[in-house]
Amino acid sequence: MGIGDHIESGHGKTTVFGVSLTARSPRSGVVWSGASSVRVRPWPLTPDRAFLLITGSHGPDLELPHPDILGEWVRTISSWGYRSVRTTALAPTPAAALRTVGFITAQDLVLLKRTHYAPPTYDIPADIAPRTVRRLPGHRYSATVLNELLQLDRAAFGDEWCLDREALRDAFTATRRSRILVSRSHGRIDGFVLVGATGSTGFIQRLAVQPDVRRSGVASRLVASALQWSHKVGCSVTVVNTEVSNSAAIGLYRSFDFEEMEHGLQVLERDLT
Ligand SMILES: CC(C)(COP(=O)(O)OP(=O)(O)OC[C@H]1O[C@@H](n2cnc3c(N)ncnc32)[C@H](O)[C@@H]1OP(=O)(O)O)[C@@H](O)C(=O)NCCC(=O)NCCS
Repeated sequence: MGIGDHIESGHGKTTVFGVSLTARSPRSGVVWSGASSVRVRPWPLTPDRAFLLITGSHGPDLELPHPDILGEWVRTISSWGYRSVRTTALAPTPAAALRTVGFITAQDLVLLKRTHYAPPTYDIPADIAPRTVRRLPGHRYSATVLNELLQLDRAAFGDEWCLDREALRDAFTATRRSRILVSRSHGRIDGFVLVGATGSTGFIQRLAVQPDVRRSGVASRLVASALQWSHKVGCSVTVVNTEVSNSAAIGLYRSFDFEEMEHGLQVLERDLT
């Protein structure tokens, strides 16, 4: 008997064994563990949308299981009471596999790469140079700083695409090493960049600037500092992805000699109602 056999829906409420799913938060779990591990949890700020996290999903060679198994993932996620599901960014091969079970494009991303022949030469006055966010003993960030970063992320990306605490932590731990660099003025964080490195590849995982200080060079200083860090820890390339229509970010990365890679990425979604 599947989990879904015990689910009743109605009047905006879903119950499993008489327990309200809205109270069973988060509805999270592993739906597959094979060549890649596949987890589900609620999408930030949208509890009835599932977030399908597929490890290694940027890899162009990642093979997802047979469509019958993918269909089983969809039924399981639906049985947990979600009304829709959205994925992490996927390379073309895993994206094509999920399309066979009804997923469609939610976001088209371009992948950009910068080869580090040398660190970027970028003159940043010391008083406005981005700083590493200090961590508490035990390697945790203070709740105040985390909340400020998440608020800034929401102001920059909007409710639909912002991170929550868990997604920020995932991005932070996705690479072997990582740093959060912030730009501050008048006691406020104006912008931050999350940069990571695994082996000889650096990754700009997140970049956000407060809307009211844009176009004043905040992101340029953050990107320059992130690239300097990535070069310093031994990366020969740094990679970043951004939405194909994000001309501000693409213009910014091009000004640092990032070049478009052969394949892009896609975030997919599927209705479950
Ligand atoms: C993209 C973003 C980080 C740029 O931040 P910023 O601090 O305004 O960028 P900068 O002032 O350092 O701009 C540097 C260069 O980027 C390009 N650029 C920045 N904003 C631009 C815009 N709105 N339109 C076109 N080009 C733009 C320009 O080449 C600019 O140089 P210039 O001002 O000398 O012409 C900011 O707009 C933002 O937070 N957007 C929402 C979140 C996001 O898209 N993050 C990046 C996704 S990976």
